[in-house]
Formats: sequence, C-alpha cells, structure tokens
Amino acid sequence: MDFKDLIQKRYSVRQYKSTSIDREKIEKVLEAGRMAPSAVNYQPWEFIVIREPEMLEKIHSCYSREWFKSAPVVIVVCGDHAEGWHRAADGKDHTDIDVAIAVDHMTLMATEMGLGTCWVCNFNPLLAREILELPQNLEPVAMLPLGIPREDDDLSTKVKKRKPLNQIVHWDCYKG
Ligand SMILES: Cc1cc2nc3c(=O)[nH]c(=O)nc-3n(C[C@H](O)[C@H](O)[C@H](O)COP(=O)(O)O)c2cc1C
Repeated sequence: MDFKDLIQKRYSVRQYKSTSIDREKIEKVLEAGRMAPSAVNYQPWEFIVIREPEMLEKIHSCYSREWFKSAPVVIVVCGDHAEGWHRAADGKDHTDIDVAIAVDHMTLMATEMGLGTCWVCNFNPLLAREILELPQNLEPVAMLPLGIPREDDDLSTKVKKRKPLNQIVHWDCYKG
C-alpha cells in the first residue's frame, strides 16, 4: 500500500471481531515496533503481548470500556526510563518519544496487514503494573488492542478531523 494511503487508512478501531490473530502476524507487528528509531538507538521499550483469556480479562479492568473487550490481543508497550536517553542540556527524558514511535510503527504495520489498532493511554497504570508484575523500571505507556476490525466499524473512508496545515506550520520563523 502506498504510504499516503496507509496513513489515511489507519484509524482508531474500537470494535474488533473475536477472530484470533496468528502468532506470526503479531510478530510482524512487533517487528515493526522493534525497527523504530530511538534516541541514541537506546531502544528503551519492551512489549507485553496479552492473548490468554484470563490475562485479557484482567487487563480489561485497567480500561473499562466495552469495546476494549472485543480485541483478541492487547500489546502493552512499556518504556524503561533508566534506558532512555536523557538530553545533557536539560535532562529531558526521551523514553516516551521513543515508545510513541514504536507504537506508531506497529499501528501502521497492522493497518497494512488489514488489522486494526487503537492507541490507549487512558488506563490505570498502577493496576496494569500490578497485573503484569512489571519491574519498577518499566512504565506501561500505551496499550494497543489488535484485531480484525468489525466491518460495520469501517471509518477509514471518513475525512480525518485535523487542523489545517496553515494553522500549525510556520515557515522560517514563528510569525512566518
Ligand atoms: C497518545 C494517545 C493516547 C490515546 N489514548 C486513547 C485512549 O485512551 N482511548 C481511546 O479510545 N483513544 C485513545 N487515543 C486515540 C485518539 O483518540 C485518536 O487517535 C484520535 O482521536 C484521532 O483519531 P484516529 O486515530 O481515528 O485518526 C489516543 C491516541 C494517542 C495518540
């Protein structure tokens, strides 16, 4: 798929078919995350793939939306702030940025494969940490439900609601 079409086609899928997703397909999505660029190439991320019904049920308690329960797979993308690059000039931690790029690679790969995803950050991180028994250094940054979109949820042809370029782009200086 042409890249322009791919970014147009990706949308937040909030209804999935119950069909399970083959491990190889999940691995292809994970591989796209693995190949993401990161500051100083530190790759401060770890991916937890949840497929077991018992674990899925537990993870649903971190984000109690009905639609979330329809996804057969949830990838919890974690950031390791001890591994991320901290800029010398001001100490800025780039872990979240790196994790976001990995997540975005995964969303685009999934779209190309005919699968749906949706960024989820509005979950309870303390609960997620406990359920997944995460070590202290790992922060659950995003949850990525993954599955086959339900046909009647195909919003991909809808015009994306975005600010126009002339509202967000400045040429040469802020007032440009
Ligand atoms: C960092 C981030 C966090 C998000 N968290 C949630 C979330 O918790 N729940 C949800 O339903 N959508 C969430 N979204 C999805 C956005 O609502 C969605 O991307 C946005 O409305 C644009 O729609 P589109 O993805 O269909 O193009 C999140 C997106 C991003 C990038």
